[in-house]
Amino acid sequence: MKTLIKNIKELVGVEGSPVLRKQGKEMAQLETIKDAFLVIEDGKIAAFGKMEELKNSQLSILNFPFDREVDATGRMVIPSFCDSHTHLVYANSRELEFVDKIRGLSYEEIAKRGGGILNSAKATAAATEEELYDMAQQRLEEVIRLGTGAIEIKSGYGLSTESELKLLRVIRRLKENSPLTIKSNFLGAHGIPMEYRGHQEDYVDLVINEMIPLVAGEGLADFIDVFCDQGFFTVADTERILEAGIKYGMRPKIHANEMAISGGVQVGVKYGAISVDHLEQMGDAEIECLKGSETMPTVLPGCAFFLNLPLSPARKMIDAGLPVAMASDYNPGTAPSNNMQLILSMACIRYRLTPEEAFNATTLNTAYAMGVSQELGSIAVGKKANFYITKPIPSYAYMPYSFGENKVERTFLNGVEV
Ligand code: NIG
Ligand code: FE
Repeated sequence: MKTLIKNIKELVGVEGSPVLRKQGKEMAQLETIKDAFLVIEDGKIAAFGKMEELKNSQLSILNFPFDREVDATGRMVIPSFCDSHTHLVYANSRELEFVDKIRGLSYEEIAKRGGGILNSAKATAAATEEELYDMAQQRLEEVIRLGTGAIEIKSGYGLSTESELKLLRVIRRLKENSPLTIKSNFLGAHGIPMEYRGHQEDYVDLVINEMIPLVAGEGLADFIDVFCDQGFFTVADTERILEAGIKYGMRPKIHANEMAISGGVQVGVKYGAISVDHLEQMGDAEIECLKGSETMPTVLPGCAFFLNLPLSPARKMIDAGLPVAMASDYNPGTAPSNNMQLILSMACIRYRLTPEEAFNATTLNTAYAMGVSQELGSIAVGKKANFYITKPIPSYAYMPYSFGENKVERTFLNGVEV
């Protein structure tokens, strides 16, 4: 099956020599081709270039005819967003807590009284695997319409062995049935169940001795995560859990420094985390520690917006030579939006990234943060053909500029229109 997308006003995010991530000044580089074509063969990107090349010498190389031709006149073609941090499988929305927050309660105060993550855990325990699957499936349909092509999904609303396995089995079914590229992340250490308050090391023992072996036994998780923050899990808890997960082949991804400078960045780097996420609270030591590491600092603008948190110093990190990724954190408690186009806008408007940096932060660098940047995150020969065609728009900077509006017209995943 060979598809040609022709007359593309601008093909965005092309790479001749693909890299796994971009950092510092490289983040400002976003190559594009105006008046371009793109060829897809067997779900992969086979060729791209200028229309005039297609008309002339390249004709024979590309071995016409195509099975399908799509005319993209006036439209951009852009690599799909990779959303490297979500909690997309959940049972209930939490707008009543949202109202409590407006009235003045903090996220931590709500969590202390048994709301927050524990509220979601109660509803998750009551839901069947089928119900959770149907709701999640619906949400995936929506993210596809908004231009997302790959997504990481965490467990973490279970907080019991049975419920955590239930969530991870839902994610496995989504992986099997969705055209999206999906990675799963075991976040048993997301909250401390009420009955473990005051002796949370016993819950950590449960995660290590019971949950991790069962999760690994069924091959249910690509990554292991811990909410390492003030009021949640300590650095010592985190170290124990990561060591156990790593033994079973799960690479760490950490929730760090949302509430306070928690040591989460340092522990993540120490254990070779593929990413450390949130980072609203960052000192110079945290930035220093990330330099030269394999760990992707990942900012979650939707969460900071929703909770009115201080902004992560993304600009400062890039200026210090670091890479930065930006993901949605899609979840019912702190970021009830699945919209990566909004994250792209916030990257520019609130964090002062240029459009080029913002695209790299939400495509290639998030692909890296979920371990798929060798096959996704840019337009490069051999990569999966995951991209969207925009509505007619004047330039790619219009994408972040026009916030809150869906600019995606058509979506292709694995070379197939969905
Ligand atoms: O990434 N910070 C921890 N976990 C989620 C929120 C979970 C919730 O409140 O339901 C987050 O923001
Ligand atoms: Fe999160």
